[in-house]
Amino acid sequence: MSYETILVEQKGAVTLITLNRPQALNALNTQVLADMIDAFGKFQADPSQLCAVVTGAGDKAFAAGADIKEMADKSGAEFYSQDFFSGWTNQLVKMVRKPWIAAVNGFALGGGCEVAMMSDFIIASEKAKFGQPEIKLGVAPGMGGSQRLTRAVGKSKAMDMCLTGRMMDAAEAERAGLVSRVVPADQLMEEAMKAAEAIAAMPPLAAMMNKELVDMAFETTLDTGLIMERRMFQVLTATEDKTEGMKAFVEKRPGVWKGR
Ligand code: CAA
Repeated sequence: MSYETILVEQKGAVTLITLNRPQALNALNTQVLADMIDAFGKFQADPSQLCAVVTGAGDKAFAAGADIKEMADKSGAEFYSQDFFSGWTNQLVKMVRKPWIAAVNGFALGGGCEVAMMSDFIIASEKAKFGQPEIKLGVAPGMGGSQRLTRAVGKSKAMDMCLTGRMMDAAEAERAGLVSRVVPADQLMEEAMKAAEAIAAMPPLAAMMNKELVDMAFETTLDTGLIMERRMFQVLTATEDKTEGMKAFVEKRPGVWKGR
C-alpha cells in the first residue's frame, strides 16, 4: 500500500515507517496523521509483523513539528471543534499494542519530539536535536510534549525546554533519559533495525505485555502497578511460549515461539 506522506516497508517481521516530506523537514500535517493511523492499524493487525521502526526521510529531520503552514490560518474555533491533534494519542498510540521504536536522525521538534516520545523508546543519531519550541509560536505543545517530556526528563529540564524553546542535543537527551541510546549517524538505521529484529524475535505475547506493564507505570499507583505486574506474569505462565521458553533454556537451545 502506498501513502502520500509516509513510506512503509516490511523487512521480515519489522515494519519500517518513514515520515516522507523531506522538503518540509517531515512536518506533520493532517495527512501524515491519517497515513500513520492507517499504517499502524495494518501493522497492529498483521500477525507476521512484530515490531515497528519510525524514522524521517532525508538526513536533516525526524520531524520538525506539526505543519505550521497548515495551522497558520486556522481559527481557534476550528482547532477546538476538530479536537486538533487528538488522533495522535487517542487513535494511534492507543491502537498500537506491539512495540515500536523511534529512530531519530535529526531535528525532532515540537510534534516531532512528541511523536518520538509516543514510541516505546528512542534511538538517536549523534546529530539528533530535540525540542519543544511551540512557545516561540505563541502556543504550547499540543501532542503530549508537556506531559510525556516531563515524565521522561523531570520537571526542571521539561520546564527549561518548554519555556526557552531551546534544543537539546543527543548527548544531553541521553543523559536526561529521553533516549535509550545514541549511535553514529551512519549506523542509526542498522542499530534501530537490529533492536527491532531482537524484539521481533521475542515471544510476541510477552513483548506486548512487557510494553503494557512499563506504560502502566506512568498511569497508576505503585501498589496497583505491582499487582498488575504479578497478574500479567501469571497470565504469561499459562502460555505455550512460557512452556517452550523454559524448556528451551533447560535444553540450552533457542526457543521457537507460537505467540500463544
Ligand atoms: N511546519 C511546516 N514547514 C516547516 C516546518 C514546520 N514545522 N519546519 C520546517 N519547515 C519547512 C520550512 O518552512 C522550509 O520550507 P521552505 O523551503 O518552503 O521555506 C523547509 O521546511 C526547510 O526549513 P528551514 O529552511 O527553516 O530549515 P533550517 O535548516 O533553516 O531550519 C529548523 C531548521 C530549525 C528545524 C526550522 O525549520 C524550524 O525552526 N522549524 C520549525 C520548528 C517548530 O517550531 N516546530 C514546532 C511546530 S508547532 C508544533 O509542533 C505543535 C505541537 O505541539 C504539535
